[in-house]
Amino acid sequence: MVKPYVYVTRKLPDIIISRLRKRYEVEIWPEEEIPVPRKLLLEKVKTADALISVISDKLDEELFSHATQLRVAANMAVGYDNIDLAAASRHQIAVCNTPDVLTDTTADLTFALLLATARRMIEAADFVKQNQWKSWSPMQLVGVDVHHKTIGIVGMGKIGTAVAKRAAGFDMDIIYHNRSRHEVAEEMLGARYCTFDELLEQADFVICLAPLTEQTKGLFQREHFQKMKKDAIFINASRGPIINERALLEALQAGEIAAAGLDVFEQEPIAANHPLLALDNIVALPHIGSATKETRLAMMEVCCDNLDAIFDGRPPKTLVNKDLLSFRS
Ligand code: GLV
Repeated sequence: MVKPYVYVTRKLPDIIISRLRKRYEVEIWPEEEIPVPRKLLLEKVKTADALISVISDKLDEELFSHATQLRVAANMAVGYDNIDLAAASRHQIAVCNTPDVLTDTTADLTFALLLATARRMIEAADFVKQNQWKSWSPMQLVGVDVHHKTIGIVGMGKIGTAVAKRAAGFDMDIIYHNRSRHEVAEEMLGARYCTFDELLEQADFVICLAPLTEQTKGLFQREHFQKMKKDAIFINASRGPIINERALLEALQAGEIAAAGLDVFEQEPIAANHPLLALDNIVALPHIGSATKETRLAMMEVCCDNLDAIFDGRPPKTLVNKDLLSFRS
């Protein structure tokens, strides 16, 4: 029997490739740092039965119209804003993501970014490494407290709730803004629902964890940074385009907010000479929210499970385009 052909758009560990090869004909783009060139990807999807993709791959109408055999695109991420879902459904292609397995890991990183920004940890570590530490001094590298402050979470989904749990451990007041009320977080964690403006005005730490959609694109503009407290710290661990980056830069330069911790950017990778990176009060990370060995392997396993489900004729567990009721046999 001919094995289904799977194209994998980024180098994966051997253990995952071995699992895939048992059941599929597998081809992998071999580079770890360089994305598969668009032209090559368009060529590969012509004959692929399945695709394992990452967030930098744009899966759009053009790509799906090349993919005459493709039955599933398993995206190794919880977010799927890189995929035109309507186009996938039109072409009867299942789109899957990797929720749940990365919730705690991403919440850990979000909270670590908050702590690192508030306590100036990157600056302080550089200070030691660059041999600037000459003596202990009372006001040297002082940051701000995190405990007993107010955290404002914009986007109270699974990761937002996991961040709120961590905040509760730091005795923080938790306020949130979300499309809908989160009764469990309200009851279990004492989280308080606010309008977007109320949250901006009251929070010491504003944490962006909303998914990127047509509604959230450009959600944070200059006026929103201006509504925040002057000593507020802004953290973004979801998607860069939710923020108008120029507005954030100007707000930081004008001292309208105190600092920002960013794991995501409008353009990734961010250019090394981007003016945001020249600021001392920025902690910038290269989109590593889910980047632990355990979680990345778990995400890859979810992709494999979803492929297996499709080729067994079962519904995949984490199907995103649920409007897709029948799969091509
Ligand atoms: C990463 O950003 C993800 O969506 O999993």
